[in-house]
Amino acid sequence: MRATARAQPNIALIKYWGKRDTEQNLPAVGSISITLADLFTTMRVEFDDSLPADSLVVNDRQNDAMLPRVSRCLDAVVGGDRSRAAVSSASNFPIAAGLASSASAFAALVVAADAAAEKQHSREQLAGLAGMASGSAARSIYGGFVELANDGDSIRLARLRPAAEWPLNVVVAITATGPKAVGSTQAMETSRETSPFYPRWVEQQQADLDAARAAISDKEFARLATVAEHNCLKMHSVMWASRPPMVYWNATTLECMDAVRQLQADGVPVFFTIDAGPQLKAVCEPTAVDIVRERLAAAPGVEAVMVTGLGAGARLIDDD
Ligand code: DP6
Repeated sequence: MRATARAQPNIALIKYWGKRDTEQNLPAVGSISITLADLFTTMRVEFDDSLPADSLVVNDRQNDAMLPRVSRCLDAVVGGDRSRAAVSSASNFPIAAGLASSASAFAALVVAADAAAEKQHSREQLAGLAGMASGSAARSIYGGFVELANDGDSIRLARLRPAAEWPLNVVVAITATGPKAVGSTQAMETSRETSPFYPRWVEQQQADLDAARAAISDKEFARLATVAEHNCLKMHSVMWASRPPMVYWNATTLECMDAVRQLQADGVPVFFTIDAGPQLKAVCEPTAVDIVRERLAAAPGVEAVMVTGLGAGARLIDDD
């Protein structure tokens, strides 16, 4: 009754921001992401009725704050009458800092729990279950370029391209560590309720999805760059215009953005994207990875840079 799974975070190029159903955690908009290769979460789940209660250890520390969300996710995967569970997770990157740690964590959790309880859900069902726990986690069930579409009362996942067919790189500039001020679940609701730009954001998303999907299909980097940056800045505009405003960037985030702009002016194939945190993610073609890493590492205030390729979806691993 135990299993271990590994999943990588994904970075949205066309963003999920806003829910149409908070109960089922259904997104208000579709999204397109790339699953990373070298950042990962390893999740071990053991069901055992002799345990006094569910428990959660994250990076060697007991974590009671996240435990209710993890228990709910286990109920959804296995059923409410399941055995109690000991869950432990370890990530090789800073968690809760806008690096999509909940995506890799919940994708790995559903895969491990499904195997430990021998449920044999399909990949599509696992994606739905991961998405109920955290919207972006549904995308980490799959590798490479992934689209999450709204499909009536549920979500539908499409694999647009495997990682090997268009092996882009991502350079993550860490501009601050530590947990973010407002979690994305709450921030999305604030945006929906108060931002005057929110309805337009939802309305325009289909056009951005279509443009990005076509660019990925044609492997046209410049077209993907344009629509991804536009979509990212539009999402942050929604946040900035919310009440209270949510500004996730810091001065170093802007320094990094400026570094990317300068590289673009020199003809380097790179673009940026930023999620609900201050880190900047630069997506580039493999030929550009050295210069992008060098320039971002030299941007004033950058604490560290991480470089990764694109990788596979969540999967079981042997931990014995
Ligand atoms: C800005 O998936 O963390 O990273 O469903 O409430 O858990 P919940 O939200 P979450 O939101 C991710 C928001 C984003 C954009 C994206 O990944 O698409």
